[in-house]
Amino acid sequence: MKQIAVVTGASSGLGTEFVRLLRREKHVQEIWLVARSRDKLKAMAKQSGGRCRAVPLDLSVHENIMKLGEMLKAEQVCIRYLVNSAGYGKFGSYSDLTAEQSRNMIDLNISGVVETGLVCLPFMERGSRILNIASLASTTPMPYLNIYAATKAFVRNYSRALNVELKPRGISVTAVCPGWMDTGFIANAQTGAKKSPTVFAAITKPDVVAAKALRDAKNGKAISVYGFFPKLTYAAAKLLPQKFMMQSWMRMQHLKQ
Ligand SMILES: NC(=O)c1ccc[n+]([C@@H]2O[C@H](COP(=O)([O-])OP(=O)(O)OC[C@H]3O[C@@H](n4cnc5c(N)ncnc54)[C@H](OP(=O)(O)O)[C@@H]3O)[C@@H](O)[C@H]2O)c1
Repeated sequence: MKQIAVVTGASSGLGTEFVRLLRREKHVQEIWLVARSRDKLKAMAKQSGGRCRAVPLDLSVHENIMKLGEMLKAEQVCIRYLVNSAGYGKFGSYSDLTAEQSRNMIDLNISGVVETGLVCLPFMERGSRILNIASLASTTPMPYLNIYAATKAFVRNYSRALNVELKPRGISVTAVCPGWMDTGFIANAQTGAKKSPTVFAAITKPDVVAAKALRDAKNGKAISVYGFFPKLTYAAAKLLPQKFMMQSWMRMQHLKQ
C-alpha cells in the first residue's frame, strides 16, 4: 500500500512549508497537494519529480471533499500525515462581511477540517498523524476578527477531543496554534473595513512554525504553539478572564468600541 501525506492549503504559506518538510520523510512516498490554485499545485508537483501530486479542490464545497474520499478509495493508500492547513480570515466588523463571506469562512475553516478528517480517517492506521491548523486566535473571542477567531476555537476544541477519541487507534491529532505569520493570510484578510487589526506583533516565518508542529505531532502532543509571545498569550488566556483578554486585544489593535 502506498504511504502518503495529504496537505490542504498546500499552495501557499504554512501548507507549502509542511510539504517541504514532509518531502524529507523517507517513508512518505507521495504527498497530495490540495488547494484551489490548479496551476500552482501542478508546478509544485512537476518540480517535485513525481513525489507530489496535485489535487485541485475547493474544500469549502462538501461534494469536493467527497471526491477526495473517492480518490483515496480508488488508490488504496495509507495516510501517514493529514495536515489541514487550508483556511482564511477576514478583518472587520460583522457588518463589513456579506452573509456569504461569513458562511464561506465557516464552511472552509470548520466543515472543511471536519469532513476532510472524516474522509481520510478510514485510510489511517496506528502511528498516523493529523495536524489541524487552528490559531492563537482560538483562545479568545476577538472583536473585528470575530468569525475567524470563533472558527479556530472550534478547530482547537474539536481537535483536542478527537485526539482522545482516536487514542485507541494509535492516531494522534495535534491542534497547531500559530500567532501571526508572514504568509498570504494578512493581505487576503483585508476588507477595507474602517475597524481592522493593524498590529501584527511578533510575526514569524511559517517554516519555524511548521517544523515545531511536525515535531510536536510526532511526539503525540495535543497542542503546538511556537514562540515566546504566542506561548505567553496562550498561558494568559488560560488564566485570565475572557473579558480582560478581549480588552487587551482591543488595546493592542488600537480599536475602540
Ligand atoms: N498567517 C497567519 O498569521 C496565521 C496565524 C494563525 C493561523 N493561521 C492559519 O494557518 C493556515 C494557513 O494559512 P497561511 O497563513 O498559510 O495563509 P495563506 O498563505 O493565505 O494560505 C492559505 C491556503 O489555504 C488555501 N485555501 C484557501 N481557500 C481554500 C479553499 N476554499 N479550498 C482549498 N484551499 C483553500 C489557499 O490556497 P488556494 O488559494 O490555492 O485555494 C492557501 O494554500 C490557515 O488555516 C490560517 O487560518 C494563519
